[in-house]
Amino acid sequence: MNAPSTDLPIGVFDSGIGGLTVLRALRAAMPRESFVYLGDTARLPYGTKSADTVRRYALRAASHLVERGIKALVVACNTATAAALPQLVEAFAPLPVHGVISPGADAASAASIGGVVAVLATEGTVRERAYHGALLHRGVHRVFARPAPLLVTLAEEGRAQGALVQHVVRDYLEGISGDQAFDTLLLGCTHFPVFRSVCAEVLGAEVAIVDSASTTASAVAAVTPRCLGDRAHTHFLATDGGDRFRRVGSFFLGETIPEVEIVDL
Ligand code: DGL
Repeated sequence: MNAPSTDLPIGVFDSGIGGLTVLRALRAAMPRESFVYLGDTARLPYGTKSADTVRRYALRAASHLVERGIKALVVACNTATAAALPQLVEAFAPLPVHGVISPGADAASAASIGGVVAVLATEGTVRERAYHGALLHRGVHRVFARPAPLLVTLAEEGRAQGALVQHVVRDYLEGISGDQAFDTLLLGCTHFPVFRSVCAEVLGAEVAIVDSASTTASAVAAVTPRCLGDRAHTHFLATDGGDRFRRVGSFFLGETIPEVEIVDL
């Protein structure tokens, strides 16, 4: 197969709108590139489903983007990366396929001074122990991980602040590492960067808080052949609920989403 044209967009997919936090970082790192973003909102959440089901969904979503024509694929979903990255790499070779777990582990290991990292993620990501392996491999000594599914629901509601969010965040973080202190919190779900300030209020300034968005963007930018044009645009696709995607997604992306095309996978 020939190398894809550098003028093609970069494909990005997530189970819903959380991956827009990664898209935002990608666009900031590569302002001349075009993107096509697919949120599989009809099947959200992936985080509570079995690894087999998530793999099936991820392969379908990725196939749709590949059929449209893309020059690289970013799996902007921790759960899909944890369950399906090797299968996606194999299925679409030689297309470059990037996940968010390795970049997230890079960010956390760089930030962690004492080598003790706590991870908030979905049930699926925690079950696959994807961050455990990636962090220990990078020299982190201890990893504590906890599923935080209610935070996905709150994020999908567009709620990132307030007493209820504080309460839920506190509840998930309390006892996450037993008696041991941790020095870094990794937000291991693409929905969770919106809770950064609440996590900081709960944990105080001694704990570093990181996510995968900017390290994923740097990793993708470092290896993606650049588009030479100057008409960058982003096309948004969802599998359900275009109005909701636009409304809540604008909050994740930090700008208005003008139009969403509904697709059936
Ligand atoms: N986008 C998913 C992730 O990063 C969270 C939402 C879901 O459970 O589908 O793991």
